[in-house]
Amino acid sequence: MISSDYLDMPPLIGAGGTALLPGSKSISNRVLLLAALAEGKTLITGLLDSDDTRVMLAALHALGVIVSTQGTDTIVHGCGGRFPERRADLFMGNAGTAIRPLTAALALLGGSYTLSGVPRMHERPIGDLVDALRAINCSIDYLNQLGYPPLAINLGTPNVDTPIRVRGDVSSQFLTALLLALPLVSQQQDVVVEVIGTLISRPYVHITLELLCRFGVHVENENWQRFVIPAGSRYTSPGRMAVEGDASSASYFLAAGVLGSLHGAGDAVRVEGVDAHSIQGDVEFARVLERLGARVEWGDGFISASGLIPGRKRLTGGIIDCVAIPDAAMTLAITALFADAPTLLTGIGSWRVKETDRIAAMGAELAKLGAQVEAGEDWLRVHPLSDGQWRSAAIGTYDDHRMAMCFSLASFGPADIRILDPGCVSKTFPDYFQVFASVARPVPVIAIDGPTASGKGTVASKVAAMLGFHYLDSGALYRTTALLALRQDIKLDDEARLSELALRLPIRCDGSQVWVGPEDVSAAIRTEDVGRAASALASLPAVRQSLLALQHSLRRAPGLVADGRDMGTEVFPSARLKVFLTADVQARADRRYKQLISQGISTTIIDVLRDLEARDARDSKRSVAALRPAQDAVPLNTSALDVDQTVDQVLQWWRQCS
Ligand code: C5P
Repeated sequence: MISSDYLDMPPLIGAGGTALLPGSKSISNRVLLLAALAEGKTLITGLLDSDDTRVMLAALHALGVIVSTQGTDTIVHGCGGRFPERRADLFMGNAGTAIRPLTAALALLGGSYTLSGVPRMHERPIGDLVDALRAINCSIDYLNQLGYPPLAINLGTPNVDTPIRVRGDVSSQFLTALLLALPLVSQQQDVVVEVIGTLISRPYVHITLELLCRFGVHVENENWQRFVIPAGSRYTSPGRMAVEGDASSASYFLAAGVLGSLHGAGDAVRVEGVDAHSIQGDVEFARVLERLGARVEWGDGFISASGLIPGRKRLTGGIIDCVAIPDAAMTLAITALFADAPTLLTGIGSWRVKETDRIAAMGAELAKLGAQVEAGEDWLRVHPLSDGQWRSAAIGTYDDHRMAMCFSLASFGPADIRILDPGCVSKTFPDYFQVFASVARPVPVIAIDGPTASGKGTVASKVAAMLGFHYLDSGALYRTTALLALRQDIKLDDEARLSELALRLPIRCDGSQVWVGPEDVSAAIRTEDVGRAASALASLPAVRQSLLALQHSLRRAPGLVADGRDMGTEVFPSARLKVFLTADVQARADRRYKQLISQGISTTIIDVLRDLEARDARDSKRSVAALRPAQDAVPLNTSALDVDQTVDQVLQWWRQCS
């Protein structure tokens, strides 16, 4: 569970590994009902554990169905087409996938039942289904408001001699409910269902028909307008039933397998629980990725994506018809940022009525990243971003799990991504961010901390140069803040003004050169006065907090070497290699003295020594981010080593851990 208000995503340089998907919600609740109605026992593997499945399980229990667990598997003892309990009051929470098919099944079987839910459930229409069932003489009454739950079901006299007609142009779920329930009354004669209007969301009806087949009922599908359940149909358990992984959620990991390769450090990302035989429409997402230039492999029980086909540098833009993959299509709006041309997503009108207006939400949040986006009633055009156009952003998620999950992919871009209200993923994938982190490869950081004049600056910048990594001299940020504070006469204990100054530091670092606006301050920040002032203001928590985002923003592909006091403990606690450099105080004083003299600054070795000791004491005794080695830092005493030896040692450790 994630309880915080936001989650900062580390910038990613690649991805690789295997993601186990949670079970599909659409399949889980259908399978539970089918297994309950079938003859025989069904062992279900991979069932989703979520609010909606818990509601269905509780209802089945109240209806007298025996359900047991064996490890992580669920065993449903089928009741052969008749629920043992003929009277029950069922609480359906807010589970549409439970109340609709149960209403149909109970109405056809007859008994004395009530079905109710949370207040929001009583606002969700069910009239089209009730009309269809009443038309064949089922006994259903509204207990409250016409057209909405709660409902009372009694013994009716269902007559299926003539076709049952149901609307299909508003929701496909009422048709699914009838298709799941009508085999209960098809022993003597064919049962025909006719759809009024053009059927929407066909991939979901496809799931229903496929699952009916697995439980022994083969429905004839006449062009999605007429369905015939043959006489003599009855549910029989297949024995074992594996719930597929959620194909919509597979899209994030497959996209990660592609985007992760863009920095040249990606491997295959494999999703387990779906494959080419999946009955979920959203597996088509993988085919779309292939058409856009991705290298996709289809196997038995898995799909994997590993970058682009040879010769390609980016995904292709263009027009993508998303009618068949409405949920996974959201992922394409993010991969479009990394394409070679604008991407037009069409057929996404249903986005407007999902958890939020997804077209509006997607447009607003993509714009925060700097993207140019155009939208219409049922389409969205996303223009790609070049490296310089990306902007760091806090992404709103609109209580929509899929917004949160697909924007995690933006962390493959060169910007800092904060996901607001990340806990909203619990709707379908409670541990999404943990699973994502297990395949994501953050931009590597080497943290080199140590006291003043331990040589960390020289060593860190050389290591960075050898590896082609970026270099962060965090001390320069404190020093620059101090320089500006001295110039602006800000007192060194005025935490509010200093932190304000640090937050808007107009600094630009280029190797060892530091600029404030147009001014090169590289020399000015190195004086002893500025060093002392830096050390003083560095003990103020608000100042340290203000400089955090700036330091994080320098973590960019292909990697970062950061030197300072708290790189390994506070700023980059997940750094892959942490080195704590020390040297005897005399050795450090000698080095600093020579450095100052070579810069034409006159001082004495005694003054330097005293100053070092005072600064060490202040840095290690302060209450925030005190100078101390991280628990997992490797100590390196450089008193007897020259710079090259020290650099060699760090590089050797780096090779061992990368
Ligand atoms: O490393 P340098 O001597 O340039 O840093 C100047 C001062 O900034 C240090 O004495 C220390 O007090 C502070 N500092 C810090 N945390 C860092 C880097 C420097 O507190 N990560």
